[in-house]
Amino acid sequence: MARSLANTAILIAMGILGVSTVFAQQSGNQPQTSLCVECHKEATPSIVTDWQLSVHSQSDVGCVACHGDKHVSKEDIAEAGLVLPETCAACHPEQVKQFKGGKHSLAWAAMNAMPSLHFQPMAMIEGLKGCGACHRFGIKSEAEVKELVKQESGFGVSSCDTCHTRHLFSIKEAQSPQACQTCHMGFDHAQWEMYSSSKHGVRFLLKQSGVLPENVAAPTCQTCHMQNGDHGVMTAWGFLAVRLPMPEDKQWAADRAAVLTALGVLDPKGEPTARLDVVKGAKVARLTQEDWEEQRNKMLRVCEQCHSANFAKAELEKGDLMIKEADRLMAQGIQIVADLYKDGILQKPKEYPYAYPDLLTFHDAPTVIEQKLFIMFLEHRMRTFQGSFHSNPDYAFWYGWSEMQRDLTEIRALAALMRENAKIESKN
Ligand code: HEC
Ligand code: HEC
Ligand code: HEC
Ligand code: HEC
Ligand code: HEC
Ligand code: HEC
Ligand code: HEC
Ligand code: HEC
Repeated sequence: MARSLANTAILIAMGILGVSTVFAQQSGNQPQTSLCVECHKEATPSIVTDWQLSVHSQSDVGCVACHGDKHVSKEDIAEAGLVLPETCAACHPEQVKQFKGGKHSLAWAAMNAMPSLHFQPMAMIEGLKGCGACHRFGIKSEAEVKELVKQESGFGVSSCDTCHTRHLFSIKEAQSPQACQTCHMGFDHAQWEMYSSSKHGVRFLLKQSGVLPENVAAPTCQTCHMQNGDHGVMTAWGFLAVRLPMPEDKQWAADRAAVLTALGVLDPKGEPTARLDVVKGAKVARLTQEDWEEQRNKMLRVCEQCHSANFAKAELEKGDLMIKEADRLMAQGIQIVADLYKDGILQKPKEYPYAYPDLLTFHDAPTVIEQKLFIMFLEHRMRTFQGSFHSNPDYAFWYGWSEMQRDLTEIRALAALMRENAKIESKN
């Protein structure tokens, strides 16, 4: 009796002081959430365990805060609320605002803008497989959310459970470079492989495994790309390493124009096309010197936390130079294929807008030589400059530059063979 009175007194005191969260720590907050938790201990036990281990559970943020209270039994499961970025924004407006200003928020739009998308199986696009799995965290329009609800019962609409995964939502997980690994790996963006085998990554992984002390200097992806926890990621060169204005160097300007034409953002006369508007909309490239420098300077300031300013500047300029060298090879490959179209040796696919190769058709490019050109661009050119920027000599050289040389040799040989064959055929 005396004890319960004392408890009541404490509770009243906490209520007056507004510290109801202390009480919630033990009991799992609002009555509604304890209802969810009781049943979900059976229905989905690991989700409950993860939530119980989370800062959310300790801070009185229950299931209801994210899923609402419309579904409360086995009969009304479809009523469980969607968890959109706006759901998190109610309590974390700053992170949502930053996120919306960065590249990640455009991931859904950029994926859908790809001309080749419509050749892929639907399960690869919309679902949590293939393209959709990595691009799903981009912001979606209301209509797109409705469409997803129809196809996926409403999964994959959240933007905020990819680095700090549900239902732990742990800051520690998000701060680890492994949080980026699932998406930033493989064929055309092997940043994980590059980083984890660079001096930066090796040092960090040795720190993570306890071999090196906790306070040793070792940058993570987040150190360089999410400075001060900024959720709006963006780089100077971007994914495709093209930008405006054109460089002063005449040869490089001509080579970049060839790349831009093969991307379909310039027509063969050098005039901008409708695709340029898509590029602008999805912020695929920096379109002014100022925008590019802003990102470059932001990055230099990170390097300067550990390196001298001269060292950092020189290292990043080497990355720029590798783009220039890669564009030289790329432009030659593009020209060889364009000449085959021009001379009627190779039938230009009907859907290509100009008498010019279209790099954005990806692996749907119809012939071996066009596929080679695509691999040269999306796999090997990427590795050349991405490897340079991520201080990974093997990716920059052997998996990148050296492979580009080989691609160009093969494209040349194939083109010569095709021309030979055409000559023989025209004689018969
Ligand atoms: C009486 C049991 C019960 C209660 C109470 C309950 N749920 Fe569920 N819930 C389920 C079952 C069963 C499923 C389906 C699990 C499965 O498919 O394995 C489910 C599924 C879900 C899903 C996934 C929806 C989907 O389409 O698969 C969410 C989200 C969810 N519950 C949240 C909640 C929240 C929030 C509450 C409290 C407001 C709650 N649940 C209360 C039993 C319950
Ligand atoms: C009802 C309010 C509320 C909602 C909704 C909410 N959070 Fe939180 N979140 C909190 C509170 C309170 C904390 C404790 C730390 C703090 O005070 O910021 C927290 C902490 C976090 C942390 C840091 C965890 C750590 O390890 O320190 C992350 C990450 C996070 N939330 C992500 C999210 C995401 C993602 C969503 C949406 C899916 C979300 N939150 C929805 C209130 C909320
Ligand atoms: C769910 C998959 C996924 C995860 C996890 C992920 N990313 Fe990304 N990231 C993407 C996609 C997709 C894009 C391209 C976005 C677009 O299409 O606009 C991207 C773009 C970027 C860019 C912009 C490059 C440019 O074009 O300027 C940076 C930088 C980046 N991510 C860094 C990170 C870091 C650092 C992490 C981990 C903390 C991370 N990403 C986690 C999928 C992911
Ligand atoms: C393994 C995860 C993953 C898969 C699968 C994936 N992407 Fe991506 N995608 C990314 C990441 C990460 C980036 C950003 C890489 C970078 O900037 O270096 C990206 C970048 C892009 C970009 C460039 C966006 C920009 O604005 O710079 C487009 C367009 C794109 N992807 C479309 C697709 C399409 C279409 C598919 C399926 C055919 C696909 N992606 C499959 C992870 C993925
Ligand atoms: C901070 C917000 C947040 C809280 C709190 C939260 N969830 Fe979720 N939950 C999510 C997000 C985000 C998703 C993924 C939705 C998507 O796929 O778009 C999700 C998905 C689910 C799913 C279906 C997906 C799966 O992995 O099976 C179930 C079931 C679920 N939650 C149950 C619960 C239960 C039960 C609680 C309370 C113990 C809870 N959630 C608390 C954010 C939250
Ligand atoms: C690309 C990976 C990534 C994505 C996507 C992401 N976060 Fe984070 N989040 C992080 C990282 C990394 C941190 C730790 C930042 C730091 O070190 O201060 C973090 C921290 C947080 C925190 C804790 C902030 C603090 O200082 O306590 C909140 C809240 C949060 N994120 C909310 C969100 C919300 C809301 C979204 C969706 C718009 C989101 N995050 C999407 C990587 C991500
Ligand atoms: C030491 C700093 C540093 C670390 C660590 C780092 N990056 Fe980068 N990253 C860069 C620089 C520098 C660029 C090129 C920026 C520019 O365009 O000028 C870059 C570019 C990128 C790009 C754009 C395409 C490209 O590769 O050029 C993505 C995406 C990216 N990084 C993701 C990641 C991911 C994911 C990780 C961790 C696995 C990571 N980065 C680790 C410095 C870093
Ligand atoms: C948090 C600290 C930190 C940051 C930030 C950082 N680095 Fe490093 N970097 C290191 C350490 C430590 C080494 C390993 C030193 C050694 O090789 O003796 C290293 C090594 C390197 C190397 C290999 C040099 C060699 O001698 O083998 C290059 C290149 C490099 N960094 C470039 C950069 C660039 C460019 C940036 C910015 C985009 C950057 N680093 C940001 C800590 C950092």
